[in-house]
This record gives sequence, structure tokens and C-alpha cells, in this order.
Amino acid sequence: MKNKGLAKHFTRGGQITLHNLRMFNQIANRVFLMGILIFALFMIVWFFIRTTAYERYIFMQWIWAHCYLFFSGHQAKQHIIQPDGQAVLVYSKAMLDSGLMQIYLSKVGSILLSGFLVCLFLCVASVLGVVIFLKKRGKAHTKNKRIKGDYLRAPAQVKKMIIKRQKASDLHLGKSALPLIKDTERQHFLIDGTTGSGKSTVIKELLDQIRSRGDRVIFWDEGGHFISEFYDETCDKIMNDLDVRGLSWHLWDECQDIADFENMATALIPMTHVQDPFWVLGARTIFSEVAFTMRNDPNRNVQALLKMLLTASLDNIKAYLEDIYASILVSDKIEKTAISIKSIMAAYLKCLRYVKDEEDPFSIRRWIQNDSSSGWLFFSSLEKKHEGLKPLITARLDIAINELLSLERNEKRRIWIILDELTSLHKIPTLFKILSKGRKPGACVVIGIQNYAQLAEVYGNNGAKIISSLLNTRFMFRQPDPDMAAWSARNLGETIIEEVREGISYGANTMRDGVSMNRHETKKAVVSPSEIMTLDDLHCFVRLPGQYPITQLDFDLKLRKALHAPFIQREMDETKFKELDKVIAKHEKAGVHAASDISEKTEKLNRKFNKKEGIDQVTEVVGEEKLFDV
Ligand SMILES: Nc1ncnc2c1ncn2[C@@H]1O[C@H](COP(=O)(O)OP(=O)(O)O)[C@@H](O)[C@H]1O
Ligand SMILES: [Mg+2]
Repeated sequence: MKNKGLAKHFTRGGQITLHNLRMFNQIANRVFLMGILIFALFMIVWFFIRTTAYERYIFMQWIWAHCYLFFSGHQAKQHIIQPDGQAVLVYSKAMLDSGLMQIYLSKVGSILLSGFLVCLFLCVASVLGVVIFLKKRGKAHTKNKRIKGDYLRAPAQVKKMIIKRQKASDLHLGKSALPLIKDTERQHFLIDGTTGSGKSTVIKELLDQIRSRGDRVIFWDEGGHFISEFYDETCDKIMNDLDVRGLSWHLWDECQDIADFENMATALIPMTHVQDPFWVLGARTIFSEVAFTMRNDPNRNVQALLKMLLTASLDNIKAYLEDIYASILVSDKIEKTAISIKSIMAAYLKCLRYVKDEEDPFSIRRWIQNDSSSGWLFFSSLEKKHEGLKPLITARLDIAINELLSLERNEKRRIWIILDELTSLHKIPTLFKILSKGRKPGACVVIGIQNYAQLAEVYGNNGAKIISSLLNTRFMFRQPDPDMAAWSARNLGETIIEEVREGISYGANTMRDGVSMNRHETKKAVVSPSEIMTLDDLHCFVRLPGQYPITQLDFDLKLRKALHAPFIQREMDETKFKELDKVIAKHEKAGVHAASDISEKTEKLNRKFNKKEGIDQVTEVVGEEKLFDV
């Protein structure tokens, strides 16, 4: 078997080599012949250009003289016209030996010698030109041709293209300073990549330019790293209740009508797959109703609100509420429901106990409305307490976005909403709206995520698709997971190419030998998932909005000085919360027991809920079933 394989390979190798040699020989012969012809042609032209008619005549007589001498011997004579035009009959031998003939001969000889060298050079150059032309033609024939779709180009080429079309924005990124497309910041950005791949580096480059532009920024900075490098105490604000620099904030200053409280409740208490939608909606309604009712209380504060929601007896809450509709939820008759609702309130509203509810409160709404300001608003948290603070941060960001949406149309205004690690927050209800309608008030949203699966986890499959579809400039950093890398690769588009396939045939007779070339149309990813999986840190692929090629950008790691502490702990009397913490813990425990005993009705709803994609539909289901009609 081994020998048979060896013989086969030997035959195949020999046939292919012989065939190639034959074909090479054929072409080389033709090119050589062509070289000789070119040389001869050049020599003739050279000779005619460089000699006079009389010199050519003498040269011809020299050739004739040799012929006569060869055939007729020394007595051979020939007619020759002298330079003065007189024709004389001379011995050929004497003519050849004459001094005049020697002068003419040496002149013609030197012309022929220089002609030989020049023509040889021209001939070699022409042959080389032909060889290069044939090689290029051959290469072009085997090259795959793009028919339509996306394609990849070097950043310098893309930059040239953008500048030529006069579409270069003043914002530029990467080592090659690739300009973004003018005015497309309002069509939002996606920065996707695994941890440490370079997402924050892109944001930092953007922030430098945003600061010099004087645009305002609303920033979600989980660990306060951006605060430490970018915070400017003269104009920026920090919203972090645990930080000394955090601003005082008053719930009733921010929310005035019932719709404001309802929006706040929606952002504070997210709809998740693990909780019964009925209880979540109930918790939202009670929070918004109680908070709204409390607006007229002169002693209102967040701690009192929490106490009321979590420690007051059901009857007391019922008596307090103005709205009969909500009071039904806290009826003694449905105590189990109320326990579950309270457990949800405890889980999501406990963050309110940290609220810095002091004098001279800061209003997010007023800050947004103030077009003359150029400061930035940082939202940050503390790693170890982040889970608990998440609802409050999400709700405040939601308020900011909601207010931004209400601003009048202004083509010049730019307010950046930068959400680095967006999925470290709960679902921001107004995010869809700001992405789709934020153009008018000038919102520029930058979303940083580690992967698409995280986005789908928080916003549901449909939600993630909607968000992704509204982010026009996309930066794709490394994704080590093949599925996520495939998602990134799909984002960078496909191209339809005409692929060339070369086939070789051979047989015992040389007549059978041949090479065939076929062209096939195939669809290919511009960037393959494996290219995404193997990207280095600080390297990414970029898709710009519009008809521009995909390009690869590299970033420099600019080590910046930490100008401020990312976090400065605020002195807080934790014993103040002890009682409240006990109640919260009790409700959370009770909620676990109640959750294990869910009613048939909610089970049915859950089945429906699970069938549908996305959390938004839950509200529709709840509406259909008239859940509040207990
Ligand atoms: N202060 C720093 N010192 C050294 N290396 C850093 C520093 N900041 C970032 N890097 C490097 O730059 C790369 C990108 O970091 P970063 O932009 O923060 O990533 P991401 O935001 O995607 O998690 C990382 O691989 C990290 O090693
Ligand atoms: Mg980062």
C-alpha cells in the first residue's frame, strides 16, 4: 500500500512538473523570440537615426566589396560615388584599403557598437516588462474578485476616503487618528469586547476630545476609574451616596407628578425572569403611590418612605394611600401577596436608605435643562455595595435620560450618555427611547459591553437586538468565546466574491494534460470569527456608518495620572439602619417562602411569560389577565 502511494505521488509529481516545464518552455520560447525581434527592430531604427545616407551607402559598398573580392578575386572593380557626387570605377581591394573608407568604417562601427549596447538594454527592459505584465495578468486571473458587500481596508485608506468625501468629524480615534463620520455621534456607538481588551481606552480617547469640545456628559462609571482621571471639581458633579463628593438628592424634588414616580418605580424595580410579574407590578404601584402621597407631608424623607413601605402594617399603608386601586394590593385578605410584594420592595428599595437627603439638593432634571453648563455628571458606586445600589443608579440614569428626551430640538447640542459596562446596571427603561429618538435633543450614546449575551440577559433577546440595531459606529474588540466572536464577525458584514479555482488534469498522453480555471460566487465574512478571537489587547475592528470599508484600529495605552481618588467613603451612621436592615432581611426571607407557594394563576402567567421573548411583553400579559382585579 505504501509503495503504491509512493508510485502514485511520484507519477503525479512528475506529470505536474513535466507539464509545468512544458508550459514554461512554451512561453519562454515565445518571449525569447520576441526579444530577438525587438532587438533587431531597435538596431535598424538606431542605425537609420544615427547614420547619414552617404555613410549607409559607403557601408553598403564595403559589404559589396567583400562579396566581389570573394567571387572575382583581387581584380574585382566596382563603381563608387565620391562625396563630391562624381562616380569612379575603383579596385574593390584599393577601396577597402583607402584612408577614407577606414574613417567611414570606424564611424559606422562605433555607431553599431553603441547601438548594440543601447538596443540590448532596451530589449532586456522590454522583455522584463513583458514578463512582469504576464505575471500580473496571471496573478490577477487567480485573484478573488469582490462583487458586492463589505470589505476591509487599512485605516489610512479609510481616513483618505472620509476626508475626500468631506465627512471627517473633529473626533478621531486610534494610533492612525481615524476620523469618525461627521455628525454621526447622535447615531450612537457600541464598544464590544472581553474584559481588558480596550473598551475603556476608546472611551478615554473620546472623553479627551469631548472635554475640549465642551460637550456635556452623563457617565456611568462603576468603579470610579474615570472619576479619578477625568473629574474636574470646578464643573463636574458626582452622584454617589456613599462618596463624600456625592451630591445631596431629594426624591420629591426630582419627581413631582404621579408619572414621575411611576417611571422611577419602573427603573427601580426591574422585571426579571425569576420574579412573578404580578408582584413586581404591585411593588412598583405601591412605591409610586405611597411616595406620591407622601409629597404633601412636611416631614417627608426617603428613610420615612422606606419605613412606611417596609415596616408599616398593611392597614396603615391602606389608610395612608389616596388611591383605592393601589390600596387593594395591600388588603389584609391577600396577605401572602402583600408579603411577596414587600419582599420585592425590600430587595430593590433598600438602596434608598443610603440616599444623601440633605440641604440644598441637586436635581438631575435641572442639570439636564441647563444648556449653559458644560460640566459632566458622573454616576458611580462602590464595588462591594454595587448590587444593592444598582436600582437607585439605574433609576437616576433613567431620570436623566427621560429629561434629556424632553429637551427641545437643537441641532448643535451634544449631550453624551456614556455607559461603560452597561450590563452592570439593571434595565434602563428609557434606553430604547433615547437611542431611537435622542437625535433631536442631541443625545450621543456610547455603550460598552463585554458581550452580546450579557446584553440579552438584561434586556431580553428582542431588547438586545433593538439596542444593537440602533448603535451605528461599532468597535469590536477580542471575544474569546466562539459564539460571541461569530456575533462580532456578523456585525462586520459579509462580502460576495468571485472565487477562482484552478484544476490540473494529466494523462499518459500529453494531449490529456491541461489546467482549467473556474470562477464561483461565494459569500464570506469580511472578518472571520477566529480573527476576532485572536485580536490583541487594544486592537479592534471598526464599522463606520455609511458606505465605508471595515478597518482595524490600534490604540496606544496612554497612562494617565490619577488626579482624584475614585471613591472617598462618606461617614455614615450605619446603626441608624440597623432596625431597617432587620426588617429588610425579614421581608426578603418571607419573600422566599411566599415565592415557593405561587398561585395557579401566576404559574399560568409565568408559562405564558416564558413562551414570549423579552420582558416588555410581560406587561401586556398582565394587562390581558387583569391581574389587579383581585
Ligand atoms: N493603568 C494601566 N496600566 C497598565 N496597563 C493598563 C492600564 N490600563 C489599562 N491597561 C491595559 O490596557 C488594556 C485595555 O484596558 P481597558 O481599556 O481598561 O480594557 P476594558 O475596558 O476593555 O476592560 C488592558 O489589557 C490592560 O492591561
Ligand atoms: Mg473597562
